[in-house]
Amino acid sequence: MTIKTAILNGVLTIEIARPEKKNALTQAMYQSMAEALNAAREDKAVRAVLITGQPGIFTSGNDIEDFMKRGTGEGQGSEAQEPPVCRFMRALLDCDKPVVAAVTGAAIGIGTTMLLHCDFVFVADDARLAMPFVALGLVPEFASSLVVPQLMGHRRAAEKLLTGDPFTPEEAVECGIANRVLAAGEVVNHARRVAERFNALPPGAVREAKALMRAPSRELVLQTIRTEGELFAARLRSPEAMEAFQAFFQKRKPDFSKF
Ligand code: COA
Repeated sequence: MTIKTAILNGVLTIEIARPEKKNALTQAMYQSMAEALNAAREDKAVRAVLITGQPGIFTSGNDIEDFMKRGTGEGQGSEAQEPPVCRFMRALLDCDKPVVAAVTGAAIGIGTTMLLHCDFVFVADDARLAMPFVALGLVPEFASSLVVPQLMGHRRAAEKLLTGDPFTPEEAVECGIANRVLAAGEVVNHARRVAERFNALPPGAVREAKALMRAPSRELVLQTIRTEGELFAARLRSPEAMEAFQAFFQKRKPDFSKF
């Protein structure tokens, strides 16, 4: 099992559990997470959602083998079908209950992108965040090209999105991506306690307050996701991306000198 879900004390926990591949996310895993989030919307027993990974690894991002398959048209599904990654991110954006993330270890690519759409983000002192889309021959996704510059200004966003360099948990707090840094052994428990607080708060008021906070940027976020998505899909098929993906599996540095 690569996604574990459990409902306890009013909190739906979604745990990414594929440690042998550093919690790389496959289409089946996105699908499971989308289904869990959508079910939580309807379930009155769920007051908040907690997303977490494994000790030392939140997620290494999208499975790169999966990226390669999508780039070559394999494993694509029918044209009419929304890709599971989009279903997951839409479910996250549409989640009307508070979503709390607890990040230990690396949160790469969509591992950081998803944090931009959570309500609370707690990071362990061993966390490393990164959005290396450009280095992989890709472009930012799911409104990160909008939200990251909004959060921290263009120049700091350029460090994160154009070079894709990893950044520390302290910097994640300073630039507004995370709430707090905690010791690695404490971050999940702390995040769970924050999620459990919603058992004592009025759910209707929480839902409406969250919707109000999101409303001013919602249309722009959705429009940006569509624009990024078209470019991203084309980029997956690009020779630059193929070189980056092959280099990852061949455990070498990519060579972009010929492009
Ligand atoms: N997709 C597919 N497989 C992945 C993966 C990913 N995103 N991340 C790690 N793996 C696999 C590795 O291929 C390796 O498999 P193997 O044991 O069969 O060789 C295994 O997971 C362990 O990874 P490894 O790189 O050896 O671990 P590490 O501790 O040295 O480094 C990371 C961990 C997360 C820093 C590194 O794996 C990494 O950079 N991953 C890719 C991140 C990325 O670019 N993601 C896409 C973002 S858009």
